[in-house]
Amino acid sequence: MSFLQLKGLQKKFGSTMVLEQLDLEVKQGEFLVLVGPSGCGKSTCLRLIAGLEDPTAGEVLIDGKNVLGREPKDRDIAMVFQSYALYPHMDVFENMAFGLRMARKLSEAEIVDRVREAADLLKLEPYLKRKPKELSGGQKQRVALGRALVRKPKVFLFDEPLSNLDAHLRNHMRAEIRKLQQRLGVTSIYVTHDQVEATTMGDRIAILNSGRLQQVGTPHEVYRKPANAFVAGFIGMPEMNFLAAETDGKTLNVGGQRMPVRSPATGLVKLGVRPESVRLQKSGAGLAGTVELVEDLGSHALVHVRLQEGGAMQALLPNEGIPALHSKILASWPEGAAHLFDVKSGESVEVQV
Ligand SMILES: Nc1ncnc2c1ncn2[C@@H]1O[C@H](COP(=O)(O)OP(=O)(O)OP(=O)(O)O)[C@@H](O)[C@H]1O
Ligand SMILES: [Mg+2]
Repeated sequence: MSFLQLKGLQKKFGSTMVLEQLDLEVKQGEFLVLVGPSGCGKSTCLRLIAGLEDPTAGEVLIDGKNVLGREPKDRDIAMVFQSYALYPHMDVFENMAFGLRMARKLSEAEIVDRVREAADLLKLEPYLKRKPKELSGGQKQRVALGRALVRKPKVFLFDEPLSNLDAHLRNHMRAEIRKLQQRLGVTSIYVTHDQVEATTMGDRIAILNSGRLQQVGTPHEVYRKPANAFVAGFIGMPEMNFLAAETDGKTLNVGGQRMPVRSPATGLVKLGVRPESVRLQKSGAGLAGTVELVEDLGSHALVHVRLQEGGAMQALLPNEGIPALHSKILASWPEGAAHLFDVKSGESVEVQV
């Protein structure tokens, strides 16, 4: 059952359309990641849900009730921001207790209980008497989480909460947030522009571009069956390769090579192949090219190939037996690995294998 529902949500700033007709449903206890490039409207979307901004049109429903017009504090929502926004003169305990004290709904004993419970969950007990400046970035972020947790909200909204942390800590906190959310079962929307964060954390991912929802699905679905070229290029690391091609529905003509394909598409198409599907061989069929760069990623290497007929491709290969720099190779991929997209609309065209 959907717990949080956005219906035709729209936001304009003056005449600028920032969010267009957003329809989205989040199930009870689900962790939905909203992902998209900078400026696409992610924070605006969260601010509309939290009540920090009013929509130009549309509705926000929580547990079946339209919450528009309700004050942010009356929406049972807690938001965690990128900037931790801690009070520098208060210690960790007071930072977590502050919101509860202001709400004046709980007794002092209940507030202490709530803070202790959150501190226990977040392993913050040793730091309760410290001021924010005496904490590491990760600890500060845990306090910011704690402040949201003590309110026992119905919905968590996260706005890029990890982007101020270094890569190592980010990976660690990513798993911590997800474990915590699973344990508490709070319905959550998590905003990020990092597609790795999106696919590793989300039960489902909603991809937004220029204020428009592109696709919603499980990480597996959006990776396997991207709705359009934008999603295909945005989800998956390293990024999908794109090449100009032509098809009659039975064969695909790319870079002077013909390969079998079965698709309703005809005419010019955009061909997409993921780097992990690309094979590089010395002989046989394939697009002729030269190895331009080899990036060592540890277990794998990313091989950049300059194609003879124009364009480039990247191949992700196990780090044994990769072709030498500047060597001549033939790039190919299994028949089922090709994605086709309409040249004009970018919409995905079905490929039957
Ligand atoms: N108060 C405002 N007035 C006018 N334009 C605004 C306002 N707030 C946001 N915008 C514009 O709306 C667009 C979406 O902004 P938003 O902050 O939602 O993007 P975002 O997806 O969160 O980006 P980022 O990843 O950089 O945080 C941007 O083009 C931004 O300039
Ligand atoms: Mg933002």
